[in-house]
Amino acid sequence: MKMLAIESSCDETAAAVVEDGVKILSNVVASSTTMHRKYGGIVPEVAAREQLKSIVPTIIEALQPLSSSSPITDYQLLITKSIDAIAVSSGPGLIGSLLVGVETAKTLAFATGKPLIPVNHVLAHMYANFIKTQIPDQSLSSTRSRIGDDNKIEFPAISLVVSGGHTELFLMKNEKDLQWLGGTMDDAAGEAFDKTARLLGFENRGGVAIQEAASKPQGIRASMVKLPRPMMHDKTLNFSFSGLKTAILREWKKDAHPTEETIHTFAYEVQEAITDVLVYKTINAAKTYGAKSILLSGGVAANLRLREKFMNQSSRFKIHVPPINLCTDNAVYIASYAYFRGIKTDWHEVTATPDLTVEI
Ligand code: KG4
Ligand code: ZN
Repeated sequence: MKMLAIESSCDETAAAVVEDGVKILSNVVASSTTMHRKYGGIVPEVAAREQLKSIVPTIIEALQPLSSSSPITDYQLLITKSIDAIAVSSGPGLIGSLLVGVETAKTLAFATGKPLIPVNHVLAHMYANFIKTQIPDQSLSSTRSRIGDDNKIEFPAISLVVSGGHTELFLMKNEKDLQWLGGTMDDAAGEAFDKTARLLGFENRGGVAIQEAASKPQGIRASMVKLPRPMMHDKTLNFSFSGLKTAILREWKKDAHPTEETIHTFAYEVQEAITDVLVYKTINAAKTYGAKSILLSGGVAANLRLREKFMNQSSRFKIHVPPINLCTDNAVYIASYAYFRGIKTDWHEVTATPDLTVEI
């Protein structure tokens, strides 16, 4: 079963073809991040315009491996012959960006008669763990997740989705059965990385910049800057990250002349604070629900320190983490989710839904 998937919920335009929910035939991602860096953050209007420019070339590139002719001569015929269904990210996300992918997918479904499957972007993130990958991942070579071999996901599993807009915990009883357990009450973990990165002068480079700076030598001992671990010992499985920015600002102001090393120290401590909370609460959820596996996903799951801390728990739980390029936004996991859990929907009924809920 070959699925063509389209993702355009934020500032990435992505298309992929995936076979049986696990095998990547193509994976194309175009990002307008550098455009946004210029403006100091994602500008929805700019993101939507960039989506418009990129959507058709991205889909064409994703279809190329299915064609014997290059360039492809008849797209409609190619999709009709080689694709079984079309999946599209329908929310949550930015309305202008979502509309580009959703309307394109509806047009393709109409023109080819193929079934259309709308996909919840946040729930889909966790299905990046179901993808078979050959690329060696240096940080986690022993934890490749594969369905149907020795390293397959054992259920029940606890799934942590940590992205720029979401921090959510789910109980996964099998590939289809999901239950939302808790989420952030204010900022997402990715947002906390992004906001503190800006505060420390890394402009719009977000979590990656914090991770890089945190690995560099620190001037003062890390323990001298101590940030709170918000809601870590709270009984619920909810999170709160908005206070971290204020706490950093308070500590930051104490030092009138911050050096490079001071910045590294702050980056280290903020990364420690965020990752401590994420690991502690996820492990708590796993214990409460008798989970055998833990699944990480979303852009923040690319963080090497977070991956390392979870790996320290691997004697108790089987830890699954997608390769880094499948953690950040792409269309591969959209296809996988559609295969395992999607519902074919009449294209007339499919709409872009910016505030689509994840609390299922
Ligand atoms: O999943 P994603 O690509 O987009 C959303 O759906 O939001 O996640 C983007 C988020 C950003 O906040 C970015 O700073 C964060 O993921 N991120 C990281 C790392 N790579 C991306 N955060 C910490 N460490 C990283 N290495
Ligand atoms: Zn995402």
